[in-house]
Amino acid sequence: MSVQRVLTGITTSGTPHLGNYAGAIRPAIAASRHPGVESFYFLADYHALIKTTDPLRVQRSTLEIAATWLAAGLDTGRVWFYRQSDIPEIPELTWLLTCVAGKGLLNRAHAYKAAVDKNTADGVDPDAGVNMGLYMYPVLMAADILMFKAHSVPVGRDQIQHIEMARDIAGSFNHLYGEHFVLPEAAIDASVATLPGLDGRKMSKSYDNTIPLFAPPAELKKLIFSIVTDSKAPGEPKDAEGSALFQLYQAFSTPEEARAMRTAFDEGIAWGEAKQALFERIEAAVAPMRERYQALVAEPAQIERHLHEGAAKARALATPFLAELRHAVGLRNLATAVQAVAAAPAKSAALPQFKQYREADGRFYFKLVDGDGRLLLQGAGFDSPREAGRCVAALKQGGAVALAGTELRLDDAVVATLADGVGEAELRAALAAFAD
Ligand code: TRP
Repeated sequence: MSVQRVLTGITTSGTPHLGNYAGAIRPAIAASRHPGVESFYFLADYHALIKTTDPLRVQRSTLEIAATWLAAGLDTGRVWFYRQSDIPEIPELTWLLTCVAGKGLLNRAHAYKAAVDKNTADGVDPDAGVNMGLYMYPVLMAADILMFKAHSVPVGRDQIQHIEMARDIAGSFNHLYGEHFVLPEAAIDASVATLPGLDGRKMSKSYDNTIPLFAPPAELKKLIFSIVTDSKAPGEPKDAEGSALFQLYQAFSTPEEARAMRTAFDEGIAWGEAKQALFERIEAAVAPMRERYQALVAEPAQIERHLHEGAAKARALATPFLAELRHAVGLRNLATAVQAVAAAPAKSAALPQFKQYREADGRFYFKLVDGDGRLLLQGAGFDSPREAGRCVAALKQGGAVALAGTELRLDDAVVATLADGVGEAELRAALAAFAD
């Protein structure tokens, strides 16, 4: 079975709440532990600039959301965990995608359309108060996803249209320039409930009905006791199914505990008692994480370190891929382009390619294939994608790499071997295609 790439981002414009945790972070961390899955989880801070113009809010939220992922047990050695704005290839890719994205497609984006509809209803200019960030939001999101060739994107239902737009834009690019992008799919996990908020509607910052994940116990308790219920008296049977209180309880308990609570509802548990039980359940689940969270937030430099490592790991993939895309659209080294035209005017642009991948032995490999997919150079196994990426970059730049027989050396270590029947001249010719 081939590796499944899963990618999702959280916009860094708010304080993480119970809904973010149970609906996104907790299932994502569980999924990242499955074998055969490569997970990419990132902080969508460029997207935050579309939601708020308060710099302190963006900074604070980025810190809080990063600390939440780590406190919740994300293993950064296993996943790609990074901050969007640390990857300059993402805005660059956004431009390449912008040039193939239909304006009509973006006109139909729900968030933009809602703004236009509201303006029209209010009798003002349709685009009043709409900035290009809001309009381009789906293209930036497509770049996030397509950059890392994600197969599957776990999101809430409100984001499905964005994934479809990413597919659409990827399809247009592939059609024009060749099959560079993987077409992603939205993954909506039916077993992960959307948590209700204090008023029974979906827990969301836009409804102002959230319970912050790491609220101090006293505040947590106060908020839980403010959850809206009906006016049934103690002893009257209560309907668990329609109850926000019960759904929250269920999200933080084992199936047995949930079953016992359902029986208690049938038997007429008092609302005050049910709220106390919910508070105790959530507090038990959150308390150990809260402690780790507070320690992390107190040491932001350590979080920065995690993010920088994550960015290097992500860029080991993004940098070579963007080089391939730049070449595909014609942003090329002029000398090689002229030579290619002079030498082989009729030949289509089937270019050599570096491929990076991970083997079952857990190590990171690269190889160089020619335009027809024939193996030219096989890289050795590396401990990290970063080291493999460093070799690829060195080869592309043509420096510091020495060939001895069929062995290629970088800093005195053998990093790759020529494939059978491939000579130095052929290798040099292939590498010249990458020269910048
Ligand atoms: N738009 C997403 C949200 O608000 C956040 C996001 C940005 C995202 N880029 C992404 C989600 C890429 C998944 C994939 O929830």
